Amino acid sequence: MRVRHLTKIFKTGGLLFGKKFRAVDDVSFNLGGDSSSIFTIVGESGCGKTTLARMILGLIEPTSGSIEILGRDVARLSSKERSHWLPKVIQPVFQNPFEAFNPLRKVYSYLLHTATSVAGIEDKAEAVERVNRALEEVRLSPEVAMRSPYELSGGQVQRLSIARAIIPNPKLIIADEPVSMIDASLRMGILNIFKQLKDEMDINFIYITHDLSTAYYISDLIAVMYKGSFAEIGQAEAIFKEPLHPYTQLLIESIPRVDRRWTGKIKVSVTEVEEYLLPGCKFADRCPYVMEICKKKAPPLITTSGGVRVSCWLYNEEKGVAKH
Ligand SMILES: Nc1ncnc2c1ncn2[C@@H]1O[C@H](COP(=O)(O)OP(=O)(O)O)[C@@H](O)[C@H]1O
Ligand code: SF4
Ligand SMILES: [Mg+2]
Repeated sequence: MRVRHLTKIFKTGGLLFGKKFRAVDDVSFNLGGDSSSIFTIVGESGCGKTTLARMILGLIEPTSGSIEILGRDVARLSSKERSHWLPKVIQPVFQNPFEAFNPLRKVYSYLLHTATSVAGIEDKAEAVERVNRALEEVRLSPEVAMRSPYELSGGQVQRLSIARAIIPNPKLIIADEPVSMIDASLRMGILNIFKQLKDEMDINFIYITHDLSTAYYISDLIAVMYKGSFAEIGQAEAIFKEPLHPYTQLLIESIPRVDRRWTGKIKVSVTEVEEYLLPGCKFADRCPYVMEICKKKAPPLITTSGGVRVSCWLYNEEKGVAKH
């Protein structure tokens, strides 16, 4: 997948005095290749994560920029391709697992419907086999799926919604805050399923979270999003070891030291709803290292010698090290 300069501007208020709001601002990245990866997009509430996910899923139109999947430009897909081809390639997993299912229907019949109508399996026995295999992947028995969603726990329903998502054998799953409504003790179990599906079924994941502490263990790549843009993007290991952007440093420092892997929450204030049209770095009002240039000119996203891309005037392209 190639995402280039993806931007979404929402217009709010009246026609005459309405305001423009840049929810996603010039986001670019590549995903996939020789092996599958888990790409985590982390950022505080309101920074544009869901808007980015919804554009990639084809649910909302970008204002500008492009999304290319398996060599095809999503904007140029016909409505038939959008409803038939795209769901075979990309599947979502949502925050509230109960939204994935009809509360009045047994989960199993819903999964079978996914196998026939989304995955396009016409043979009934084959569809049953595909559903059972998906249930096995998420470590649930078909008996659990025979119940209605309201008879099950949030953790079980989220596993079922992951089973639903893998039935069409997608290349990519976009999971938007998939464990934030799940009991803390069950979170890693669910995230581990992503890791296992990446290895066993060769599925790429975009894991969206406001909680960096859940990302360490499962991520191959990380992008730190701030006010609609990527502040830093690169290999997870490099970013956790040596975060470059002052905002990434703040996020990592707020994970309790005792276990930087997955406990605790990021303690940062919620992004205020405002226009991001001021010149300069979006983080300047919160940055402890702010310099004169930061208020005047937006820092470009540069690639450092370590391969991490960062948008901050403290770094330069040649050396990828602090200028001062
Ligand atoms: N349909 C919409 N119309 C206007 N503003 C929106 C709309 N959807 C989202 N926004 C705004 O865009 C910003 C980003 O929202 P969202 O993508 O949901 O962030 P996140 O998922 O990171 O919390 C928020 O300020 C939100 O209020
Ligand atoms: S560009 Fe300046 S204000 Fe922005 S993060 Fe870097 S040092 Fe801080
Ligand atoms: Mg969201």
